Amino acid sequence: MTRLAGRVAIVTGAGRGIGVSYAKRYAEEGAKVVCVDVLDSQSTVDTIKQAGGDAIGVKADVTDAKAVAEMARVAVETYGKIDILLNNAALFANLERRHFMDIPSEEWDKVMQINTRGVFECIRAVVPDMRKREYGKIINIASGTVFKGTTGLCQYVASKGAVVAMTRVIARELGPDNICVNALAPGMTLSEALAERDFYLNSSTPSTRAFKRHEYPEDLTGAAVFLASADSDFMTGQCMVVDGGAAMH
Ligand SMILES: NC(=O)c1ccc[n+]([C@@H]2O[C@H](COP(=O)([O-])OP(=O)(O)OC[C@H]3O[C@@H](n4cnc5c(N)ncnc54)[C@H](O)[C@@H]3O)[C@@H](O)[C@H]2O)c1
Repeated sequence: MTRLAGRVAIVTGAGRGIGVSYAKRYAEEGAKVVCVDVLDSQSTVDTIKQAGGDAIGVKADVTDAKAVAEMARVAVETYGKIDILLNNAALFANLERRHFMDIPSEEWDKVMQINTRGVFECIRAVVPDMRKREYGKIINIASGTVFKGTTGLCQYVASKGAVVAMTRVIARELGPDNICVNALAPGMTLSEALAERDFYLNSSTPSTRAFKRHEYPEDLTGAAVFLASADSDFMTGQCMVVDGGAAMH
């Protein structure tokens, strides 16, 4: 499988959770992968290298414009270019579920800062390099909650709704540069942090799907490869929902 042979991909939030699966799959498909996180992503890098792939880790906060400029600089210095940006880093797994009336305003700001402005900053950091080759693939991780109006996470759902909206604007603004900008909206997925919590393990979400089972990170990686590969070169501004057929939009 080498659908991304010769490509260089940045995956944010690759230190744990679903981001690890995206990074591993991109490497399996032949991409050189820059694994970015506020956490240490060395274990992701090691796993990729042990499997014969090529990756480096960069520690960066996606909300810090200087840190993500450095992320892009290191990617270009190491691998010569940036073809793919997968904006996966976000605050999600550790958020407490509560009525919107009970969400502290500071938490609202923090979620919007990381989940929405973080995407904006990372895109702005990679676009100058993509423009040089008039080619690029930007994939923003949204969420099926936007289409379902999932309760208990108003700040999170709003932040991901903004990601869908931003994807459409930036897709139009980068169309002349031949850069694709799409969103991928997972359903509730048993990433490592969620798989430890009874709330998610016992959730009724699987019963709302056409496919009545839990969703796992590996259910998402094929769509992430499609959106990063030449197979989706005439597709932009779209939001692909991968949730086993719960939200249909
Ligand atoms: N798991 C689900 O059910 C689900 C459903 C829909 C969408 N998503 C989205 O998928 C993505 C991954 O989800 P997950 O379950 O693996 O979450 P997670 O919380 O386990 O992983 C998120 C990663 O992002 C990193 N991160 C957080 N803030 C950062 C920052 N400021 N700078 C750099 N890195 C930062 C974290 O350190 C972590 O490694 C997120 O965008 C999430 O919103 C998840």
